[in-house]
Amino acid sequence: MSDTYLAAIAVRRSNYAITPKSSVPDEKLEAIIKACVLHCPTSFNTQSSRAVLVVGDANKKLWNMISESALKGLEGDNKTSMQGRLTAFGGGYGSAVIDAITVKFPVYTKQFPVWSLNAAGMLQHAVWTSFTLEGLGTSLQHNGAYSDELVSNIQKTFSLPSTWTSTAIMPFGDPAAPPAEKSFSPIEDRVKVVKA
Ligand SMILES: Cc1cc2nc3c(=O)[nH]c(=O)nc-3n(C[C@H](O)[C@H](O)[C@H](O)COP(=O)(O)O)c2cc1C
Repeated sequence: MSDTYLAAIAVRRSNYAITPKSSVPDEKLEAIIKACVLHCPTSFNTQSSRAVLVVGDANKKLWNMISESALKGLEGDNKTSMQGRLTAFGGGYGSAVIDAITVKFPVYTKQFPVWSLNAAGMLQHAVWTSFTLEGLGTSLQHNGAYSDELVSNIQKTFSLPSTWTSTAIMPFGDPAAPPAEKSFSPIEDRVKVVKA
């Protein structure tokens, strides 16, 4: 029963070579994201995860804002290299921004920010895998810390609630090339089975 799912997660990869096109219609992208938000778990079922699908001109606007913030203070080769990466991400068709809100919950107030980020990670994986299965190239981008100022500008520009914050953004588009080769360390070093 789990074979189909395991085959799907094995297909997901980081693909940085993306084009400004999407052979998957916006309605389908929206349906995928809604299904992932609906079914991915959150701690105590607080439903703390949020997602924003950003496409077309809005995507260009988003990446211009990220670039302006991320390039501040960088110089020389570092700036050139970062500029190249950001131009490539902004040159995709869209971005899935996975957000988390902090839920106030009696007793566990301190832990909730961490748990909501864990839940956001599960949602990122579900969207990333689904987009890959649709044939899209997708990656997960942190670009250092998103400053409070940038987050606030993004919230205002796209009319998002001020409680929605994001630690990562997933740029996507039809792939221009397959993902690079990936190496794996021996699985025995990473998984132990304990029976007694
Ligand atoms: C929590 C997390 C954070 C990541 N952050 C970035 C990032 O900021 N930029 C980036 O290019 N890739 C990022 N990645 C992608 C990883 O580098 C990538 O998943 C890893 O090298 C394995 O390659 P694969 O995605 O093709 O399987 C991140 C992945 C995870 C799970």
